Amino acid sequence: MKNTFPKNFIWGAATSAYQIEGAAAEDGKGPSIWDAFCQIPGKVAKNEHGNIACDHYHRIEEDVALLKNLGVKAYRFSIAWSRILPNGRVKKINHKGIDFYNKLIDALIAADIQPWVTLYHWDLPLALQMEENGWLGENISDLFADYADICFKHFGDRVKNWITINEAWVVAILGYGQGVFAPGKISNTAPYKAGHHVLLAHAKAVNIFRKKYFPIHGGKIGITNNCDWREPLMDKQADKDAAQRALEFFFAWFTDPVFKGDYPKVMKDRLGEKLPQFSAEEKALLKGSSDFIGLNHYTTMYASDASGITQDGPIYGNGGISEDQNVNLSVDKNWKRTSMNWAVVPWGCKNLLLWIADRYDNPDIYITENGCSYNDQLVDGACEDNNRVDFIQTYLAACKEAIDQGVNLKGYFIWSLMDNFEWASGYEKRFGIHFVDFETLERTPKASAKWYGKFIKNEVT
Ligand code: GAL
Repeated sequence: MKNTFPKNFIWGAATSAYQIEGAAAEDGKGPSIWDAFCQIPGKVAKNEHGNIACDHYHRIEEDVALLKNLGVKAYRFSIAWSRILPNGRVKKINHKGIDFYNKLIDALIAADIQPWVTLYHWDLPLALQMEENGWLGENISDLFADYADICFKHFGDRVKNWITINEAWVVAILGYGQGVFAPGKISNTAPYKAGHHVLLAHAKAVNIFRKKYFPIHGGKIGITNNCDWREPLMDKQADKDAAQRALEFFFAWFTDPVFKGDYPKVMKDRLGEKLPQFSAEEKALLKGSSDFIGLNHYTTMYASDASGITQDGPIYGNGGISEDQNVNLSVDKNWKRTSMNWAVVPWGCKNLLLWIADRYDNPDIYITENGCSYNDQLVDGACEDNNRVDFIQTYLAACKEAIDQGVNLKGYFIWSLMDNFEWASGYEKRFGIHFVDFETLERTPKASAKWYGKFIKNEVT
């Protein structure tokens, strides 16, 4: 497959702090909710944790060399809030944490790789969970904005691409609804409140960036939201409406407010008082608060109308709280699956890009994550992950088709640069294009890294 993407298309790779850094209690870092969550027996497969992870904290040079060899022009990583502010508050700054990110940013720039920095990839300082009730607390959005301010101040001279929040939907639904991710709360109302505060945190941070730092350093800022595609199960209006509803409860929940200034009507209608309201001032702050849409996309499911199906209590599907949406989700048993059991459906990616372009007036979109986990093996020092090569090729072909149909897709970041701590699944699920031996911590490029590197350098014919 030849690379026919536009010349200035941004090719990148992504990671996040808790999943790769390790050094969980080193050089003054405070604990995060993931450090605590991993200590509760049964929450993470094999009771694994990110104490060492990929030991990236001690391997900046080596990991930047991986990126350089790959040939990517951009690297998306996240800052661990509690590495910079051990108890989450700006009163106590951990300068060793600042030094670490400075070193990383400088090494990237020296290697001609743009840093794309996510401010929040789920590792809330534990102190703020305990003292402020985490994302349910009334002060949390201001505390996030204070933390963001510190990051812009220290790194804004070199970082020109900022992402405030990674996947608010996951924070809300998996963290405060299903309780399968930190902080492990189970509720059918808390997700909407937590999500509300996450959106306000985003808007307040962007406001500080634009007022205080943009005039000096310039740069772009946006939010990254995740979404699977929802395809109507049958060619009938009720299923088409169900698929649309599912997409609105998934993606528009966190994207309408930042582009249009408020939640989707369907959510307001169906949720009533369960969904908090924005004040006029908050709406104004939110509207237009993202210079681009960051999209994390992994899979596709069928959606059908769930009317007539009686449910006893809240039902959680992969799409949120099903009873609120009245949507049933299913997959085609003939679809290929990854080792996460996620269906491989490249045309879903194209349809989603077209849907986003249509709904939000053709904004700039960056796919800030796309990838797959397989049961990779290292055999004689090599990992022939041809299933991942296929996955990337077919998803990229779908992206290119979307671009050809007018979608402003400007960049693509593979998840992930290397195998890492896959949250509640631990280390068994390997998403990397570099194989990590978690005993020796040695990194080995998989076949997919070699293919991706050649592709982006235009060496594949
Ligand atoms: C995303 C998340 C990443 C990674 C990926 C694969 O939701 O942002 O941290 O874990 O999924 O599951």
